[in-house]
Amino acid sequence: MEGLYLGIETSCDDTSCALYSPERGVVLHRTAAQLDHEKYGGVVPEIASRSHMRTLLPLYETVMEDSGASLASLAGIGVTNGPGLTGSLLVGLSFAKALAYGGEVPLAGIHHIEGHILANALEGPLDLPALVLVVSGGHTQLILMERIGRYRIVGSTRDDAAGEAFDKIGKLLGLPFPGGPSIEREARGGNAAAFDFPRGLKHSGGCDFSFSGLKTAVRLKVESYPSLTTELMRDVAASAQEAIVDILLEKSLIALKETGARRFYLAGGVAANGRLRELMRERLDGMSVAVSWPRLEYCTDNAAMIACAASHHIRAGRTDGLELNSFARGAIVSWAREGPDAP
Ligand code: KG4
Ligand code: ZN
Repeated sequence: MEGLYLGIETSCDDTSCALYSPERGVVLHRTAAQLDHEKYGGVVPEIASRSHMRTLLPLYETVMEDSGASLASLAGIGVTNGPGLTGSLLVGLSFAKALAYGGEVPLAGIHHIEGHILANALEGPLDLPALVLVVSGGHTQLILMERIGRYRIVGSTRDDAAGEAFDKIGKLLGLPFPGGPSIEREARGGNAAAFDFPRGLKHSGGCDFSFSGLKTAVRLKVESYPSLTTELMRDVAASAQEAIVDILLEKSLIALKETGARRFYLAGGVAANGRLRELMRERLDGMSVAVSWPRLEYCTDNAAMIACAASHHIRAGRTDGLELNSFARGAIVSWAREGPDAP
């Protein structure tokens, strides 16, 4: 019988359920975004966990009903157990455990970053080894993936994540939350060369990132004008976006050189950014490094990527018991043994 894997993702402010089959790909995916955070200009953890509590069960029921799948027929359940907001993670984790226990279905806890990476495997096999740039609201990392389950961190941010920089700058400019899509939209009407904002750690020679200086530079620039006109706001948005994508590209080029990887993937919410995609494709094409990214709905938080990751863990025999806990922080770790195709 075909293996159907259920994914559950509640690590931040999106409640998501999906079914994935290694044979058919994504069978069904539903994400409910929480809009209550907008008026606070950021995610409020208490609101997020309460909202997951309300939304998760009906979302799961819709996914099972619409797909005609039954709990007992599932080959496995994957749930994000970290990193993320503890209250939010625990809602998904408790729910997944109850399902696994009640349906006697194997359970696998999935690291959120591995989920983002494997969003690239949702529509076909990965071309490995590859370098992956994971850029989201909580993470900015360059990770070498030898194969699924084997990861080496090549570079990380020392302070803010790229998405966090977009969000904080968006807030400074009075734009709707989250800042990334808002800045991208406003940047289209602005001049990216208007301001030369700092590119953190540009001359360090390494693959680490830093975005906190950019946020301060933007704040000082805005404060140096008597008022924030639409024209100024758009120029700042375009110049700040350029600084972020430029340093993401520069560090990716160094990491490609260091690792010798000939394949490059983008992952995470910031991978939805059109300017980042355009610049990456332009530069990497010239170096004969193939670059790709997940389709838009799988760049941001979603459960399809978690179901896909779970299908790999569970088929390799790596499962978790009901003692599985959540974790707020922690880097991705390899779970597959070294060597070709060893689980
Ligand atoms: O992966 P994700 O949904 O959640 C985390 O795991 O953090 O990423 C959310 C982040 C937010 O910071 C948001 O501003 C950013 O992704 N983002 C974008 C775009 N769409 C979402 N950043 C730049 N350009 C976009 N188009
Ligand atoms: Zn994420």
